[in-house]
This record gives sequence, C-alpha cells and structure tokens, in this order.
Amino acid sequence: MKIIIINGPNLNLLGKRETDIYGSETFEDYFKQLKIDFPTIELEYFQSNIEGELIDKIQEVGFSYDGVILNAAAYTHTSVGIGDAIKAITTPTIEVHISNTFSRETFRHHSFISPNVKGIIIGFGMKSYALALQSFL
Ligand code: DQA
Repeated sequence: MKIIIINGPNLNLLGKRETDIYGSETFEDYFKQLKIDFPTIELEYFQSNIEGELIDKIQEVGFSYDGVILNAAAYTHTSVGIGDAIKAITTPTIEVHISNTFSRETFRHHSFISPNVKGIIIGFGMKSYALALQSFL
C-alpha cells in the first residue's frame, strides 16, 4: 500500500515554529518513527511552501497511490486550487491538522479541502498523521 503525506507552507518549520501549538518535534524525526510504526505501508513525504507545487504533487500521485494524507496548512483556508485538485483525483484523501483549528481564529474554521476528502482528523498533535494512516489499514 502506497501512501503519501503532503504538508503545506511553514510545516517545514515544525519543531521550532510556535512550539506551544505545534510541539517541539521536527517532521523529519516524526516521519522516521511513522515508518517504523507502519512497516507494511510504503510511505512517502512531500512538503512545499508553494501552492502550485502542492497541486502538481497531488496531480502526480492522485491517480495511482492508495492514499493521500494532506495538511495544506494555511492554504487549507484560502486555496480553491488545492480544493479542486483533491476533488479531481481518484486517490482517497484524509485531511489532517495538528492543532484544533476550530478552537483558533475564525479564519481557520473554513476549509476548501474538507468537502472533497474521505475524512478529517484535527487536533491530535502530530498523532493526527498516525491516526490518518491507521484509517487506511
Ligand atoms: C495547521 C492549521 C492551519 O490553520 C495553520 O495555518 C497551519 C497548520 C495545523 O496543522 O494545525 O499552518 O494546518
């Protein structure tokens, strides 16, 4: 089973960005652990701060992979393009957020991704990604 985690803008700074909200672990370290915890899954990771690169990656994997786990970060709340890309692909997508976006500013309450995904996991810290992976098994 081939699954990709796609992270959007500023998530390359996990571990040093707003650690009170996002924790102090880097995604690279967390990803190493995920690979150990889910040995049967062929797991890939892609991060970009650029909207078009995220759309290109979604299109590239979205007709052949078994799953996409997407944290579009700030683009969640702004990007019609990423929402449309998720709608266009056939690979099931799980939307993930580290923080509980509904307990934060109101602009974080709307998602252009949510209407087009299989499910949503929000607010469990980095564990949100593991829960999303679990849902594919
Ligand atoms: C986030 C929540 C977004 O509102 C924010 O812009 C992020 C991270 C999360 O994982 O909690 O960058 O997607």
